[in-house]
Amino acid sequence: MNILVTGGCGFIGSNFVRYMLEEHPEHSVINLDKLTYAGNLENLADVADNSRYTFIKADICDRSAVDAVVKKFSVEAIINFAAESHVDRSIVGPSIFIETNIGGTNVLLDVAKESGIQRFVQISTDEVYGSLGPTGKFREDSQLHPNSPYSASKAAADLLALAYHHTFGLPVIITRCSNNYGPYQFPEKLIPLMIANALENKQLPIYGDGLNIRDWLYVRDHCTAIDLVLMKGKVGEVYNIGGENEWKNIDIVRLLLKIIEKSDSLITFVKDRLGHDRRYAIDASKIMNELGWKPIVTFEEGLAKTIKWYMHNKSWWRRIMNGEYQQYYQQMYGNR
Ligand code: NAD
Ligand code: TYD
Repeated sequence: MNILVTGGCGFIGSNFVRYMLEEHPEHSVINLDKLTYAGNLENLADVADNSRYTFIKADICDRSAVDAVVKKFSVEAIINFAAESHVDRSIVGPSIFIETNIGGTNVLLDVAKESGIQRFVQISTDEVYGSLGPTGKFREDSQLHPNSPYSASKAAADLLALAYHHTFGLPVIITRCSNNYGPYQFPEKLIPLMIANALENKQLPIYGDGLNIRDWLYVRDHCTAIDLVLMKGKVGEVYNIGGENEWKNIDIVRLLLKIIEKSDSLITFVKDRLGHDRRYAIDASKIMNELGWKPIVTFEEGLAKTIKWYMHNKSWWRRIMNGEYQQYYQQMYGNR
């Protein structure tokens, strides 16, 4: 199958592209990415020469560019990872979230409809369900109640994708995953930021009281779930993905400091995020029962691997923090 992955130079997309090339020699992957601040071509430098992999620098909002790629590579499936993904940025400037996450998804859906795509997987998030109290979990039929401009834009894209299925019969499937962690995560998100700061003996900013809860999943387990959904998922359906692994932010940060052997005195409580969702927790029984998925990486194992990766790849995140990573495309491709 010729698979178009959008946003493949980001965190989850790059892990997924590498996973597909390793696990599925029968597939080719075309990675279409705009290379925003979050897109880093270095994330896939190790597969750049693979004959089953092609990188295209383009914007999912650019209809003619997307259309040309789909035609040129006879694309059979689209997996849409491309998005603005950071809640804090969506609070500072929501517009780009609307443009990319809703407008861009609309372009992809239109092109998919016109070109007779066999599968359209929309990578969404558990954040579309809003915030939970101390008990309960998000199910696929839980009410959508997005609270941030980020999650509202993702919820809108989900509804649009489902409407394209209902109205035009487009073979859309939606996945809603909990918080991911692992290698290549941009150091603005909780776990990589805290690891990088701890390694540099910088302060670790915890929002509010640090008691907000997230359900953490190792990124490779997310990739295996998307692979199953792509191959065996039922069109028109939503699949929740999660690790049954709830942690308070403060406890994760303390654990990281313990593993890295740094002092808790690096922790600094800072002003809370506006509208900060209190708790996310996923009921993933549908994908487990219907498609036979289960996460295999324990949190202990995943966190150890992640910390090791950030320790061994200091130049990767330092080049992000000093902006040098953005020159990599120019060095590789010139003015193309
Ligand atoms: P990321 O921010 O690391 O990467 C996003 C990628 O999309 C970047 O490579 C960026 O260059 C690209 N991109 C942005 N705008 C684009 C555009 N207009 N055209 C083409 N490419 C564009 O994001 P991530 O953490 O890898 O998340 C990927 C997807 O998974 C997102 O849709 C996100 O909503 C969803 N998701 C993320 C998590 C998580 O914990 N990170 C959890 C659940 C769902
Ligand atoms: P984040 O990684 O931004 O993911 P999301 O908001 O999409 O869940 O944040 C995870 C949690 O960590 C969230 O409750 C906010 C909190 N957080 C901090 O306390 N300090 C930080 O510097 C960051 C980036 C996040």
